[in-house]
Amino acid sequence: MLDQQAVLVTGGASGIGRAIVDALLLAGHRAIVADRDRTNLDRCREALDENADRLRFEPLDVSDESAVISSIAACEDEFGPIAGVVNSAGIGRDVPSLDTGADLFRKILEVNLIGSFLVSREVAKRMVGRKAGSIVNIASVSGILGNEGRVAYGASKGGVITMTRVMAVELASRGVRVNAIAPGPIETPMVEAVHTPEARRSWLSTIPQRRYGQPSDIASVALFLLDERKSGFITGQTICVDGGFTVAGIMTGGSRDAHP
Ligand code: NAI
Repeated sequence: MLDQQAVLVTGGASGIGRAIVDALLLAGHRAIVADRDRTNLDRCREALDENADRLRFEPLDVSDESAVISSIAACEDEFGPIAGVVNSAGIGRDVPSLDTGADLFRKILEVNLIGSFLVSREVAKRMVGRKAGSIVNIASVSGILGNEGRVAYGASKGGVITMTRVMAVELASRGVRVNAIAPGPIETPMVEAVHTPEARRSWLSTIPQRRYGQPSDIASVALFLLDERKSGFITGQTICVDGGFTVAGIMTGGSRDAHP
């Protein structure tokens, strides 16, 4: 990704996606903010008014295949080549396996997994023609570990990690890199909606850094992965940005008295 080139950020109107849009603008890039939530898109447009000439706002449901195809064609025709993609659009639910219906499971897969696939595929078709491009999928630590209540969400994110590897291998010789970020809990509207005070206590007790992440913690890694000059030999990887959550073993809360 070179300066001034366009990056498409799905779910760009809120949370992690929005922080990535802000970071792109700060670094001098152009961004397409794609989101299904028109109210948030409008809010975002107002807040970013001073950068209007470097932005395009795209109402889009990533799970709608024909909408994805026509939207990406219109973005490239009217805004220029898309050099990078961040798939941040996603939905989450905290529901035990035994209470999870097929409809909920399908809905989560449709957005988080198939939506990310459709956007990646459509942009990648164009990137291979230019022999350049970087795709960053926002997965989750719930796609790696068995977090309670995440049967559908975790499966969708595990799928995103596998999809990342397959597309990375297929596209590597054609100039396109595909990587994923697996965030731990990040302070966003999604987490605000899903994490009860009890859930927060439970998460904090399992995170060595003893804090939730900020959206900017993810944005800086996304920009690194988008930038060919910084991460040009990295593809197919999933980088955990989680305060140590996925590597933690027993934690004594700082006490050195406990023995294995
Ligand atoms: P958020 O709810 O603040 O933002 C998600 C955005 O995606 C919203 O603007 C929403 O309108 C949009 N969206 C949802 N469905 C869509 C669809 N079908 N088409 C287009 N846009 C759609 O959530 P947050 O926290 O920023 O999450 C972003 C991504 O990061 C998600 O994929 C989420 O699963 C992932 N993630 C978030 C974590 C967290 O702790 N916040 C942890 C791990 C992963």
